[in-house]
Amino acid sequence: MIFDTHAHYTDGQFDEDRDELLSGMSKNNVGLILNACSSLDEMPDILKIAEKYPFVYAAVGIHPEAVLTATDGYLDRIRDFAKHEKVKAIGEIGLDYYWTTEAKADQQRILGEQIDLARELNMPVIIHDREAHKDTLDILKEHKVYECGGVFHCYSGSAEMVREIINELDMYIAFGGTVTFKNANKPREAAKAVPLDRLLIETDSPYLAPTPYRGKRNSSLYLPEVITMLSELHGTAYEEIEKITFENGKKLFNITE
Ligand code: NI
Repeated sequence: MIFDTHAHYTDGQFDEDRDELLSGMSKNNVGLILNACSSLDEMPDILKIAEKYPFVYAAVGIHPEAVLTATDGYLDRIRDFAKHEKVKAIGEIGLDYYWTTEAKADQQRILGEQIDLARELNMPVIIHDREAHKDTLDILKEHKVYECGGVFHCYSGSAEMVREIINELDMYIAFGGTVTFKNANKPREAAKAVPLDRLLIETDSPYLAPTPYRGKRNSSLYLPEVITMLSELHGTAYEEIEKITFENGKKLFNITE
């Protein structure tokens, strides 16, 4: 069975066929999905999906592109949502200097506050790091992320940084469609450097569909393309990658079913 550890099934691109698609997951070998959250306005919809489908779990958090929505009391709102039994992580949270360079200080503060909350709640974090590798690592270290654990989602750093994340922060690293792209040598080198017991897979649906679906709407049904690539990179059987990434995800997100 496949575990898609990062998706956005609340996205409007799924409005037409969300139920049809999610209802068909288990017969297509997708056993678990974790829906990530970008802003708290989304949470009622995220929880509705998690309540309807036993195999869909949820995260809660504020994405760096939504820092302006982190108004007074936002941590209390996250704390409340996190009490829901299907909420298994704080995320996605992080730094994004690609789109929003002007709000760096706010992004850094809100990331630190959300990691502290994750430690308080003893929940793992889901980290978004785009063009902000050094600052992200510094904040994760300063806020002792190794005490709650977490994952770098849609990893875009180097193979050297993989070693730092694993040895110093004790985190997992997730790969999605980008490892299948033509000329994606850097993500492929990084994926090779991740020990199997630290590897996760994800889609970031509806974004980042793998080759040969690149540019189309992504869904968990395309994950076999990612597993195939990781299996080639690691010289490990497809079934083994599928199984180990499923078990790694269950362990990180404390899913006991
Ligand atoms: Ni995402």
